[in-house]
Amino acid sequence: MTERQPFIAGNWKMHKTLAEGKTLARNIRDGAAPGRRAEVALAPPYTALAAVAQELAGSDIRLAAQDTFWEKQGAYTGAISPAMLADAGCHYVIVGHSERRQHFGDTDATVNRKLTAVIAAGLIPILCIGETQAERAADQTLQVVRRQLEGGLGTLKPTTGTGLVVAYEPVWAIGTGLTATPEQAQTVHHFIRSLLREFLGPVAEAIRIQYGGSVTPDNAVTLLAQPDIDGALVGGASLKPELFLPIIKAAG
Ligand code: PGA
Repeated sequence: MTERQPFIAGNWKMHKTLAEGKTLARNIRDGAAPGRRAEVALAPPYTALAAVAQELAGSDIRLAAQDTFWEKQGAYTGAISPAMLADAGCHYVIVGHSERRQHFGDTDATVNRKLTAVIAAGLIPILCIGETQAERAADQTLQVVRRQLEGGLGTLKPTTGTGLVVAYEPVWAIGTGLTATPEQAQTVHHFIRSLLREFLGPVAEAIRIQYGGSVTPDNAVTLLAQPDIDGALVGGASLKPELFLPIIKAAG
């Protein structure tokens, strides 16, 4: 079986001033023990990217952005390009988060354009997919996940396992305190891996699939112990070092 390095990412969403963001990044940098197995990334808001990059310089913690536009540059007021994110020190870009789909009109088609642009800029996308409560209740979880993965990837074919990260985030578990059970999550992760195999071939074995949705230090250990759960995309708990650091530790 392919060895996949666990990957824990903190999605700060629309939180943290510059000063707060720098302090949080410093605390995580200093608290995340060297010699750990897990890769760690922080996704501050755009305004704090450069400042957090400075705090992380010299450490092995990566910088991530929460979203992007797909054009390189031009008259697109309010937008940020993948090239700008690379310039600010980003390594990863979250694409297709359910909050972008819900509040900002992201669709599988625009997610695909973003994903394509992120890869073209030499950055690595974290592609978020997941079903709503209504879709789960209607037994459509696997259908939805297939549609979002297929639509998001389009004709893209990452050739290395580290060139793409997928995050399975059931919408009903995000910020609600409701977590998928390890068995529920593993079932979907296993299905996602089989889809990646179908779409991309053997490289699927090396692609990390993170779980996201109310991850805490209490549930992280059993979630991360599942064979197809390779890390976590953490929202609320990533804003507090006393919660985020134990989650990193749970990944080994
Ligand atoms: P949460 O958010 O951990 O606060 O549920 C996860 C996410 O939206 O990435």
